[in-house]
Amino acid sequence: MATNISPICFIPFLIFLLFGALVQAIPTNNHGTDGSNIASRSIKVDLKTNPNYVPNGVAAYAHALKKWSSKTPGELAESLAAMGGSMFGELGATSVKGDREFLSSVGFGTPFQFLDVYLDTGSSDVWVYSSLTQAEDVGNHSTWVIAHSKTATPVENGTWIVQYSDGSAAYGKVFTDSINLGDVIIDKATIEAAISVSDEFISDEDIDGIFGLAYSLPNRASPQQPTVMSALLPLLSQPLFTIDLRHNSSNGAYTFGYIDGTRFLSDSGEHVHYTPLANGSTFWQFEFVSVHIGGTNDVHNDSFSAIADTGTSLMLLHSEVAKLYYDAVPGAQYNYTTSGGIWTYPCHTLPALPDFELGFANGFVVTVPGRYMNYSVFPYAEDTCVGGLQVIPDDDPQILGDVFLKSVYAVFDAGEAQIGFAKKDLD
Ligand SMILES: *[C@@H]1O[C@H](CO)[C@@H](O)[C@H](O)[C@H]1NC(C)=O
Ligand SMILES: *[C@@H]1O[C@H](CO)[C@@H](O)[C@H](O)[C@H]1NC(C)=O
Ligand SMILES: *[C@@H]1O[C@H](CO)[C@@H](O)[C@H](O)[C@H]1NC(C)=O
Ligand SMILES: *[C@@H]1O[C@H](CO)[C@@H](O)[C@H](O)[C@H]1NC(C)=O
Ligand SMILES: *[C@@H]1O[C@H](CO)[C@@H](O)[C@H](O)[C@H]1NC(C)=O
Ligand SMILES: *[C@@H]1O[C@H](CO)[C@@H](O)[C@H](O)[C@H]1NC(C)=O
Ligand SMILES: *[C@@H]1O[C@H](CO)[C@@H](O)[C@H](O)[C@H]1NC(C)=O
Repeated sequence: MATNISPICFIPFLIFLLFGALVQAIPTNNHGTDGSNIASRSIKVDLKTNPNYVPNGVAAYAHALKKWSSKTPGELAESLAAMGGSMFGELGATSVKGDREFLSSVGFGTPFQFLDVYLDTGSSDVWVYSSLTQAEDVGNHSTWVIAHSKTATPVENGTWIVQYSDGSAAYGKVFTDSINLGDVIIDKATIEAAISVSDEFISDEDIDGIFGLAYSLPNRASPQQPTVMSALLPLLSQPLFTIDLRHNSSNGAYTFGYIDGTRFLSDSGEHVHYTPLANGSTFWQFEFVSVHIGGTNDVHNDSFSAIADTGTSLMLLHSEVAKLYYDAVPGAQYNYTTSGGIWTYPCHTLPALPDFELGFANGFVVTVPGRYMNYSVFPYAEDTCVGGLQVIPDDDPQILGDVFLKSVYAVFDAGEAQIGFAKKDLD
C-alpha cells in the first residue's frame, strides 16, 4: 500500500472480498437529441423563475449552441472563442451492473480514441488500457493505441503506479496527449498508459480506465506531473464541475464549467446549497452535522467529516451512524467475521428500508430514499441482503459514494473551494 492514495484504505476487508471492484470507484456517452425537442427545451429555459438561480448567460447560450446548432466543430470553436474563449461541456454517465459503476466515454489522443472510463472524484490519476498493456491483461477492453495518436508524447523516464483502497492496482508509463472530456479539450494532459493492471480490473470488462478528479491531490506519476484536474480547471468558463448520477439509467451526466439548471428542481425554486471544503483537504471533503433515519432516530454532531467519492459505490460511515440506521431495519445483523463485518438484513421480510437523511450546517437535508439503500444480495446466506451503508473505522474520514451522490445534484466547485447539493427528481 506504499502507493495508496486513498483515504479509504482501512475499509473492512470483507466488503472487498465480497464485492471486489464494486466498492471502488467508477462511471457514458453523450445522448443525441433530435430537433423536435428544441422548442420545448427553449421554453423551459425561458420560464425559469427561481430567484436564487444565477444563470451564466454566456455558458448557457454556448451550451445551447453546441447542443442544437448545425455549425461544424470548427465554426463553433470560433463562435465560442468570440464569446470569451472558455470551455464547458457535458459528458454522459451510464449506470452498469446495478449502479456498481457509472461509465463515461472520454476521448484520448489525436484523433480522439474514445474509451469507457469511470470518473473518480476520490483519486487523481488518469490512466487507460493502452497499446502497452500486456496481452493477458487486455482481454476485451478497448485500448488507447499510442501509435495512432499524432500528438502522444512520452514523458522522459515517466512511470506511474497506483493502488486503490480496495487493493486493486495498475502501473505503466506516462505520456502527454489531448483529452476530450465532454467536448472540453485538454491539450498536453498527463495520460498514464497501463502496462499491467490487477485482476479486479481485468475481470471488470466495462472499464477501460479511471479518470481521477480529486480536488487537489497529486497524481502518482514519477517524475511528478501536473494532474489533469489542474490542467482542466483554468480552461473552464467556471472552475467547477457537476455530477448527476442516475439510478439504473443512462441519463446521468457530468457537466464541466457550468451548472445545468435543468438537472435539478430549479423551476420549483430549488437552488444549490453550498458547504465549504475542509481547510487543507486534498479530497472533496466537507462537514455534515446530523443524520435522521425514518424521521425518528437522530444524531447530531457538528464535526462529522466526509469525502464525496464517485469512486466508491457505497456510503461508508462511522459505526455509530450505521448502527443507528440498521436499528431501524427489522432483522438487520452485523455479520462478524475474522476479517471484518458487514451489515445485512432479510431481503423479503421488510416492507421497505427507511430513508436515510443527512443534514448540513446550511440547513439543507439530502434524503437517500430507502430503495437506494438496498445494495445487493448477500451471497453467503439465503434471503439476506447487503445495505448501501456500511461501516468505516472511526479514525477514517467517512465516504459518501454513489448511493448518496445519485440521490442529489452535486456541484464540485474548485474555484470557491466548496461543494453544493440540490434536490432533483429521482426515478
Ligand atoms: C470476450 O468477450 C467474448 C464474447 O462476449 C467472451 O466469449 C470472451 O470470453 C471474452 N474474453 C475475455 C478474455 O474475457
Ligand atoms: C532518464 O534516465 C536516464 C537513465 O537513468 C538518465 O540518464 C536521465 O538523466 C533521465 N532523464 C530525466 C529527465 O530524468
Ligand atoms: C433497471 O432498468 C431496467 C430497464 O429500464 C429494468 O428492467 C430493471 O428492472 C431495472 N433494475 C432496477 C434494479 O431497478
Ligand atoms: C478554514 O479556516 C478559516 C481560517 O481559520 C476559517 O475561518 C474557516 O471557517 C475554515 N473553514 C472550514 C471549512 O473549516
Ligand atoms: C463527532 O464526530 C467526530 C468525527 O466523526 C468524532 O471524532 C467525535 O467523537 C464525534 N463527537 C461526538 C460527541 O459524537
Ligand atoms: C448474516 O445475517 C443474517 C441476517 O441479516 C442472517 O440471517 C445470516 O444467517 C447471517 N449470515 C452469516 C454467514 O453469518
Ligand atoms: C433488495 O434487492 C434484492 C435484489 O437485489 C431484492 O431481491 C429484494 O427484494 C430487495 N429488498 C428490499 C427490501 O427492497
